[in-house]
Amino acid sequence: MGKKLIFLGIETSCDETAASIVQENLDGTAKVLSSVVSSQIKEHEKFGGIVPELAARSHVENIDFIISKALKDAKINFELIDGVAATAGPGLIVCLTVGLNIGKAIAGFSEKPFVAVNHLEGHALSPALSNKIKFPYLLLLISGGHSQYLIVKDVNEYKQIGTTIDDALGEAFDKTAKMLNLGYPGGPAVEKFAKQGDKNFYKLPEPIINKAGCNLSFAGLKTAVLLQSKKIKNDKKLKLNLAASFQKTIINILKKKTEVAFKEFKRFSKKEKNVFVVAGGVAANQSIRRSLEQLSKKNNFEPIFSDLKFCGDNAAMIAWTGIQRYKKKLIDNLNVEPKSRWPLDKFAPYMKGPGLKL
Ligand code: KG4
Ligand code: ZN
Repeated sequence: MGKKLIFLGIETSCDETAASIVQENLDGTAKVLSSVVSSQIKEHEKFGGIVPELAARSHVENIDFIISKALKDAKINFELIDGVAATAGPGLIVCLTVGLNIGKAIAGFSEKPFVAVNHLEGHALSPALSNKIKFPYLLLLISGGHSQYLIVKDVNEYKQIGTTIDDALGEAFDKTAKMLNLGYPGGPAVEKFAKQGDKNFYKLPEPIINKAGCNLSFAGLKTAVLLQSKKIKNDKKLKLNLAASFQKTIINILKKKTEVAFKEFKRFSKKEKNVFVVAGGVAANQSIRRSLEQLSKKNNFEPIFSDLKFCGDNAAMIAWTGIQRYKKKLIDNLNVEPKSRWPLDKFAPYMKGPGLKL
């Protein structure tokens, strides 16, 4: 008979300072005892994007308070936790260092095991915070820095079957919002304004839609939005139409590529019914959720989305991943260093840069 495990998770890879206490119940389900996320939106809003040094300074200023609040909300102290997990990459080194160092320090002085977590694995396992999911599953991870299709075989066992060859999907949303002056962060702003526009008004490009398997590309679409945005200047109605058309194009691309990924996954898993998981910040988009839900059902996949509060960056997914890795004895030393690049599938080809042939 196992024991309930409780971990402290810490996340500072980008512009959210977060800490959380998560418990794994005896039946393997998760109980989030606290999840504190302090967003730096206000600080970065005026620059229309993240300024690394500003983000790092803000993490330093907030992290002690955020961890204390996570402990207090969970009515727990360091003695009662079984381990500490902190994001060690990928991300901005100046930012990662803040959470990683404090995590290592807490683990060191409280003599608890320490787990250095890959932020992408945090997103990949995050749907299990609110659903019981069995491995293997097909994952679409769509965030500000990554857009990938992965076969999740188990904790620490990933096979990448598709990735973006240029921009990440969240980045495309953020840049579109910036070009149309819709506000920051871009994803939620585009989603909000797209509701009021005519999605069929603009015909925008769907790069590599019929080639390169389930790899993705958004750079050509971004350029097309830029060209149109210059033409429409400040016409409110056209702006809304462009936001709506952009989002519709994204959905078309995701539907087409997800069908390719379904086929690929079925070659790997011979089960009658498989699971399709969508995670990461962009997974909060309701139109994307609805479209992928319908598509999954049509293809006999059970769709599972991260809970809305765990789509964007948070530390509950880091604590949960810490517990899962700890159970597999994947424990780290206190001399572990942050990594700016850290693919989940270390054998996956690097898909960016000049000379890429599709
Ligand atoms: O996972 P996340 O919080 O951070 C990274 O690991 O990158 O993802 C942030 C990204 C941003 O690009 C943000 O604009 C996008 O997720 N996002 C959305 C929505 N909410 C957040 N994109 C589209 N629709 C949304 N509702
Ligand atoms: Zn993230």
